Amino acid sequence: MAQTTLFSKADIDKRVAEMGAEITRDLAGNDLIALCVLKGAMFFCSDLMRNIGFDVALDFIQVSSYGNQKTSSGVVTILKEPQLDMRDRSVLIVEDIIDSGLSMNEVFRYIKLDKGAREVRTATFLDKPTARRVPFKADYVGFSIDPKFVIGYGLDYAEKYRNIPEIQVLSGE
Ligand code: PRP
Repeated sequence: MAQTTLFSKADIDKRVAEMGAEITRDLAGNDLIALCVLKGAMFFCSDLMRNIGFDVALDFIQVSSYGNQKTSSGVVTILKEPQLDMRDRSVLIVEDIIDSGLSMNEVFRYIKLDKGAREVRTATFLDKPTARRVPFKADYVGFSIDPKFVIGYGLDYAEKYRNIPEIQVLSGE
């Protein structure tokens, strides 16, 4: 299987710093909770939070639609619920990638409607806008990419490659 670099660690660091600065400008003064969507967003969320210039609470949610497959099953399951009370809070959902849009749609609906958040914003490091099965537009996007299979910086294929410190395209299997 060939692995080629799409975004280097320097590209990632620069873009995450820009996103943090933008979020700092937009959301300063909010009592913000960063909600990291496990597992993939762990690395991005960790970096993004340290580029936000005000205090941010942290919580986690885990959803899964992929299993070990490269394409979504279409059914999004909540595997781990957040612990903080989100009622009337401002929540920033942090994702590593939006592909079909199914995961983000379900997490957004759950946090807004079931958990009663006052305001929900969304940040994703990568976006594949042409791969949507349901519409979704994130407030903060690191990079928009073609619908190639990408790994690294938290993104896996069958639980491998998450700890590669750059984004690579996996091809030719
Ligand atoms: C991946 C990714 C997003 C979601 C995006 O998660 O981290 O959460 O898929 O795809 P979608 O827009 O088509 O829903 P996955 O379910 O593979 O779990 P993981 O983060 O633990 O790898």
